[in-house]
Amino acid sequence: MVQSTLLTAILAFTSLAAAQCGAGTPHATVTGSGNSYTATRGSSNVYTGTDYRAAIQAALDSITSGQRVAVLASGSIGASTISVGSGKTFEGCGTINVGNKSGRGAIESLDTVGANIAYLTMTGNPYFGLRFYGTRDLTLGKINLDLSGGLGIRFERDKAANSNVKMDTITCTRAGSHCVETWNIDRLTIGSVIARNVGECGLLLQKTTNARVGLVDGNNVAAGNGYATLRFANENGKLNGGYSTNVFVDRVVSRGGGRGIFCVSQSGGAQIGYVDLANNGNNAILIENCYGVNINGGTVSGGGEVRLAARTEFANNRDINISLRVDGTTVRESPCGDNTNWNLSGNGGRNIC
Ligand SMILES: *[C@@H]1O[C@H](CO)[C@@H](O)[C@H](O)[C@H]1NC(C)=O
Ligand SMILES: *[C@@H]1O[C@H](CO)[C@@H](O)[C@H](O)[C@H]1NC(C)=O
Ligand SMILES: *[C@@H]1O[C@H](CO)[C@@H](O)[C@H](O)[C@H]1NC(C)=O
Repeated sequence: MVQSTLLTAILAFTSLAAAQCGAGTPHATVTGSGNSYTATRGSSNVYTGTDYRAAIQAALDSITSGQRVAVLASGSIGASTISVGSGKTFEGCGTINVGNKSGRGAIESLDTVGANIAYLTMTGNPYFGLRFYGTRDLTLGKINLDLSGGLGIRFERDKAANSNVKMDTITCTRAGSHCVETWNIDRLTIGSVIARNVGECGLLLQKTTNARVGLVDGNNVAAGNGYATLRFANENGKLNGGYSTNVFVDRVVSRGGGRGIFCVSQSGGAQIGYVDLANNGNNAILIENCYGVNINGGTVSGGGEVRLAARTEFANNRDINISLRVDGTTVRESPCGDNTNWNLSGNGGRNIC
């Protein structure tokens, strides 16, 4: 009994250690501080000098697919880019301060298979904190973007598509634009997106199919503009020309800011399990020209109205099912959607079809 308890404790410790940035024996490391950095692969020195970015890139370039770099040092890469190649695991254990390289990511993985950014703490005001396209089997782990501006994570619109992207926990503070913006992903899994004081969206999905998201949690996101804690746009969820349910979000929490949830421009095929929206400065929920959207339950408390709307440029809303308690704000459906099913409770005023 004592032995098995000890064994359990050892196993627990081992798995805890394995779950920490830089744990075990990374194939390459970056150490140092100030204006002195060293990159080491095994027992070989691959960089010594003043340039933090060069040290990180040298470490990444020294490993092969299946291997891992741990950046233990903190520093600043300025307006430049770190590139993570196929099959390589990157662990940013120090704090990586970044600058604004126009149109580019501070960290990129482009046209790769199986790249993994397992840990990252980033500060600064990047154009894009992380930038991706043409990826397959990309993994993002615990990503903490504590920014003073810029866009957190961007999958490009006009480049090669992505498949099988996994993200664990993405936290953004003070991004000027979106925390996470996707285009062109088939098969996306996200644990959580946590957005605090973010200028535009917490999570923005576009032309993304077969997606599963655990939690999107925004506080003071999209204040003063039309974005939202969670937004689907540009035919998000359109799968094989239709809108069968293929985008699943377990839970959306939004406080203050602008909109809570916004579906627009021929998006849909979406099911949201539970919403908890309060005091949003713009529509708590806006669904505009969307097809096949289910909100299965939850609450809206105060804030801007819950609205089903349509622009004339696209077909009207259809197949929208909403089960919701709405207090302290109104629910408006105008124009009437095609096959809207409301299941409402709460004291909010109603103007529905
Ligand atoms: C980055 O610089 C470009 C101009 O090169 C500017 O338009 C953009 O707003 C800047 N982004 C940030 C986050 O400062
Ligand atoms: C909405 O609910 C109706 C009736 O319960 C159901 O037949 C329909 O499949 C649901 N719509 C979607 C998009 O799931
Ligand atoms: C309507 O909402 C109630 C309370 O949220 C829920 O228990 C019930 O399942 C919903 N009915 C339908 C048809 O979705």
